[in-house]
Amino acid sequence: ADRRTSCALVPVYEGRRLDQAGKSGDAAWDGIISRVMKRGDIRGKAGESLVLHAGPDCNADRIVLIGCGSIKGTSTSSFRKIAKAAATALKSTNSVDAVVHLINVNVTDADDVWKARILGAAFLDSAYVYSGAPGGGRKHPSRKISLATENRTQTRAVQGALDRAKAIGTGTALARELGNLPGNVCTPTYLASAARKLAGRYDSVSIKVLNETEMKRLGMNTLLAVAAGSAEPPRLIVAEYHGGADNERPIVLVGKGVTFDSGGISLKPGASMDEMKFDMCGAASVLGTLNAVAEMALPVNLVCIVAATENLPSSTATKPGDVIKSMSGKTVEILNTDAEGRLILCDALTYAERFDPDVVVDVATLTGACMVALGQIPSGLFSNHDGLAGALLEAGQYTGDRAWQMPIWDDFQDLLKSNFADMANIGGRFGGAITAACFLARFAENQRWAHLDIAGTAWHSGANKGATGRPVPLLTQFVMNHKPRRKSQRSGR
Ligand code: BES
Ligand code: ZN
Ligand code: MN
Repeated sequence: ADRRTSCALVPVYEGRRLDQAGKSGDAAWDGIISRVMKRGDIRGKAGESLVLHAGPDCNADRIVLIGCGSIKGTSTSSFRKIAKAAATALKSTNSVDAVVHLINVNVTDADDVWKARILGAAFLDSAYVYSGAPGGGRKHPSRKISLATENRTQTRAVQGALDRAKAIGTGTALARELGNLPGNVCTPTYLASAARKLAGRYDSVSIKVLNETEMKRLGMNTLLAVAAGSAEPPRLIVAEYHGGADNERPIVLVGKGVTFDSGGISLKPGASMDEMKFDMCGAASVLGTLNAVAEMALPVNLVCIVAATENLPSSTATKPGDVIKSMSGKTVEILNTDAEGRLILCDALTYAERFDPDVVVDVATLTGACMVALGQIPSGLFSNHDGLAGALLEAGQYTGDRAWQMPIWDDFQDLLKSNFADMANIGGRFGGAITAACFLARFAENQRWAHLDIAGTAWHSGANKGATGRPVPLLTQFVMNHKPRRKSQRSGR
């Protein structure tokens, strides 16, 4: 607590305990912390906070006390809560800078690197301000935030971790911004230009955007069937990040980019339909991850494929009962035009094969049923490969951007039976998140594939309505941890 700052964030623990940072602050600041604790305005429970305005002789204009639980140690989930509370409390002040004394809070099974990542993520996430509306948004209040460290080794570890948190924070903010943009701005064409802009900022990223004609030539008829009702043209965005060896197989991420989902001819009810502008959050998260990976210059190869379209009703729209042949050659009876995500993703998954992927992960706001099954805390995870599923779960656990695995047993496949095509695009009344995943699994049979259903996690409704940027932290951490295989002989490119 020896640095001049407009705001010092200091931990206080249950039982009126202080750690080294708290004690030295208390001594430097004339005992203000112990006095406040004695008065009982803060108990030290994890997630509490109290903003104090310091006296004229203090080197900090404000002292924000942060409840950190037991001084002996706290859990990782409670530290995440602490980090969030600290960020929220700081945001409530008008401080221009801050020194955060929370890196030495004892967390069971966690090191300084993890704590710095969590703190960095929390402060960056709370600094995000939506700014993309036409006519200009609000201005970002920029704050310089430092984490106080005790010695050189700790400083070095924390600095490295903060650099990564910053890169992931940038990617998360991009995903949030794209998600929050209204459907009249964030069209498939806009998503393509946003991806182009991103590629322009990194030599390591190249980009290709396929238009309707090119998609037609490739036979992407299920994707085009979703776009059929809309005047806005669809786009298939392919962005490649080259950071690994030439013979290393890429990670391929596939994002659902439905820039507005009205349901099509199977029209959705009116309530909250505005939230279907968020139906491109899978695409946004894939581009956000690309941003983070390129920013860190990770030694991997990454391909991001975004299938972008609107889903609207019109006289040219696809109708329930229409049968369409997908790029894979499999035919689909479209019984419900509102089950459109799987129709665009199946062609994108087939297209992904040409990259000889090490793994393919698709990300989609795919089903309301996933929210019914899992709520809004974890994303739904489905995979045909246990190692891949495990790695994604672990990345989610580390970053706090968690997923929970659901089954895609063959037994469910019967629900997709059609009398007129290889499969229907909807299952029965139950297990909707699973039948959707089972549909996708049919187009990823030859791949190590996973699917993240982010319907419950990609955005908040209500007073805090807005995109979360999830699962950028999970995906980026997964890429950071990943050790890819070499390319196979058969590989065409
Ligand atoms: N984008 C929606 C899924 C969705 C709905 C996400 C609500 C978040 C909140 C998707 O395209 C959709 O409409 N799915 C249908 C599938 C059904 C027709 C089988 C759904 O979940 O109702
Ligand atoms: Zn949708
Ligand atoms: Mn839909």
